[in-house]
Amino acid sequence: MLKRTFVLGLVLLASTPGIAFSAGISAGFAALGSLAYTSFDALRCKIFVCCNDVWIPSNIEGLSRELAEKLHGQHLVQRTVIGHVKGHMRTSNPPKALVLSFHGLTGVGKNFVSRIIAENIYKGGLRSPFVHLISATKEFPHEGMVEFYKAQLKSWIEGNMTRCGRSMFIFDEVDKLPPLLLDVIKPYMDYYDELGGVNYRRGIFLFLSNSGGSAIAQTVLDHWQSGKKRVSLELSEVEGKVTRAAVNSDSHQGLWHSQLISNHLITAFIPFLPLEKSHVKKCITDALIDRKYFKKRHTIPSEVIDSVLKELTFTPTTEQIFSSTGCKRVSEKVDYVMMDREVVGKESWNMPGGRKDEM
Ligand SMILES: Nc1ncnc2c1ncn2[C@@H]1O[C@H](COP(=O)(O)OP(=O)(O)OP(=O)(O)O)[C@@H](O)[C@H]1O
Ligand SMILES: *[C@@H]1O[C@H](CO)[C@@H](O)[C@H](O)[C@H]1NC(C)=O
Ligand SMILES: [Mg+2]
Repeated sequence: MLKRTFVLGLVLLASTPGIAFSAGISAGFAALGSLAYTSFDALRCKIFVCCNDVWIPSNIEGLSRELAEKLHGQHLVQRTVIGHVKGHMRTSNPPKALVLSFHGLTGVGKNFVSRIIAENIYKGGLRSPFVHLISATKEFPHEGMVEFYKAQLKSWIEGNMTRCGRSMFIFDEVDKLPPLLLDVIKPYMDYYDELGGVNYRRGIFLFLSNSGGSAIAQTVLDHWQSGKKRVSLELSEVEGKVTRAAVNSDSHQGLWHSQLISNHLITAFIPFLPLEKSHVKKCITDALIDRKYFKKRHTIPSEVIDSVLKELTFTPTTEQIFSSTGCKRVSEKVDYVMMDREVVGKESWNMPGGRKDEM
């Protein structure tokens, strides 16, 4: 606004002959005004959250590093997530919004990866005003209120995307989302140039669900039984099964996915594999360090890790390969085991290096 007024004044003055001198002064003011405006904007965005690179740094390297360091046993997720996020961020004008559909059983890292993505793209991570975590059971609990929810969700997406076109929406527990809500979200994920004057193509939509999880687990089990290494499992061997399972599932989310697939709105299906003992052990180690029971990884006695592992159940009953709850509840089990250990006393563990020695 300010800038435009100055420029207009300058043009008016310059078009009048004989006042070239004052035009010069005016030009000076215009430059000053524009400078003041720009620095005011820069200052404002230093203090308040703005929809710019300062508040949305899109740190792809950080994302790659964190996924490599912190995410255990998900080689397909690591590869695909980085690839798609990178591809989406590379251009300021992507062809459509990035839509990733995360599938997998409980506790395998779907919310964990969403958080890592949010933290590396947005300052403040999940607390950023541009990141919206929408849980189906929390936000849309009553079946009879679908019409109201539709209007609400539409206004949320439009309101937030108008404020910032680089917003991210994470839909958790998509399996439990009323299917009609899809009609509301669909247009924003499409290839439209603009909808109502707003460009939705820089947005990011993540869908998290358990659907297809059993099919993924069966594939990994078959792979394991044929004696092949887990990391040799290719995306192409799982992808089709996930898509089919998600579409054909009995619950209503089948409808969800079939519509999204037929419209090519989902950029990619990301399969999360069930976690094995070796991965859970890493989660236990992480939790022991995180919760300050130990300072260094190598000082953790393997007995401590094993006693936490004993608190978890593994499937199938015969082979006992996959953790039934992934790495979920590992930190609680860690607290429980460490508490137990303090109560029973260190001598019964018969080893050095407990919490007390460390601190
Ligand atoms: N692959 C993993 N690597 C490292 N930590 C993990 C992994 N999976 C899960 N965790 C740990 O377990 C916790 C629970 O996982 P998360 O909430 O991501 O599970 P989920 O896949 O969303 O499960 P649900 O379907 O039950 O919601 C995470 O906060 C994280 O600490
Ligand atoms: C943005 O989305 C949140 C839900 O995450 C909602 O509470 C808020 O009202 C929305 N803002 C706008 C401007 O619509
Ligand atoms: Mg979850």
